[in-house]
Amino acid sequence: MQTESSPSRGSAGTKSEPLLIRVLKGETGPRPPVWLMRQAGRYLPEYRQVRARAGSFMRLCYTPELAAEVTLQPIRRFGFDAAILFADILLIPDALGQTVEVREGQGPVLPPLADAGAVAGLRPDRLHEHLAPVYETVRILRRELPAEVALIGFAGAPWTVATYMIEGGTSADHATALRWAVEDPDGLQRLIDLLVASSIEYLLAQVRAGADAVQIFDTWAGRLPASAFARFCLAPAAAIVAGLRAEYPDLPVIGFPRGVGERYRDYVVETGVAGISIDPTVDLDWARDGLQPLVAVQGNLDPQVLVAGGDGMRAATCRILDTLGHGPFVFNLGHGIVPQTPPDHVGELVRLVQGWRA
Ligand code: CP3
Repeated sequence: MQTESSPSRGSAGTKSEPLLIRVLKGETGPRPPVWLMRQAGRYLPEYRQVRARAGSFMRLCYTPELAAEVTLQPIRRFGFDAAILFADILLIPDALGQTVEVREGQGPVLPPLADAGAVAGLRPDRLHEHLAPVYETVRILRRELPAEVALIGFAGAPWTVATYMIEGGTSADHATALRWAVEDPDGLQRLIDLLVASSIEYLLAQVRAGADAVQIFDTWAGRLPASAFARFCLAPAAAIVAGLRAEYPDLPVIGFPRGVGERYRDYVVETGVAGISIDPTVDLDWARDGLQPLVAVQGNLDPQVLVAGGDGMRAATCRILDTLGHGPFVFNLGHGIVPQTPPDHVGELVRLVQGWRA
């Protein structure tokens, strides 16, 4: 699986950084690194087995040995260039006292915040105590992973996490959260501020435990009206990046403000991220000309193209590589792998990317 040999992390002298980290620092390698959002998950039979053993999704997240095991499964099976910590963006609300349950076929469910007054009842004081098992997962992973495989930590962006806290789960239209943004923007700001502070604490603890880079998932950024985008997407992300850089000036941060169209460029300029993860709607030539001169680009194969596989997948993959592979680029999907994905298609995709040369 690993062809290069590099000295283990922590040994003195000439340690070469993982390919992903070099690319996020602006280098263009002989080929892009590849990892996939949701690379651990239900499309893998070995994941379903461990999840059943854990009893529930949340138990899996809070059991370091099992969470580390499912993080490593796709690395062993496919030889990805990076591992992403197995956890969930909703562990922060859970830690703050809004107990989360992930139901089969329904997704996450939590008791919704009644109004901005309820923010005062959240419990940021117990954050680290509650999330300590996640930090232990990171420590196990950094020990077990080959030095050339980067370990990515993550958190949800404040707006996206707030939508789940306000709506009580996944929502078709985010009507209630969007109404807060209009009717009580200062109340929403109190929740966002709490999530900014918690996310900085949480991500710093992941980095101290061994994460090499972090990604901020703003899955619902595209739902924000233009008038609220700067306040509830850009400013919180910029504050998180600044908070992380205060302790780790060189930490690579990847932002994923999904579905924001031309505002991807504002996001890059305003937040100072090292990498920008783009969704499948983003035009490749625009990304090459408008984003890549500023930052490493990550993306953006449509997850359904990966489900379909075959010539369509090969053509789409080559087009992405040929357009973006000559600059700082990380191959990924434009959103997470879906459970219907045949594992063989993932294997073929990884071989295609790892066999491509600039
Ligand atoms: O492999 C990885 O990418 C790391 C683990 C990871 C999970 N969730 C595991 C998970 C990561 C990075 C996330 C992020 C996440 N979680 C996001 C942002 C990215 C995105 O997909 O938009 C969001 C919005 C969530 C919230 C969440 N958690 C939802 C909406 C769901 C249900 C989705 C579904 O497919 O059922 C979850 C549960 C969840 N998180 C699963 C996994 C593997 C599936 C649950 C299961 O195994 O039963």
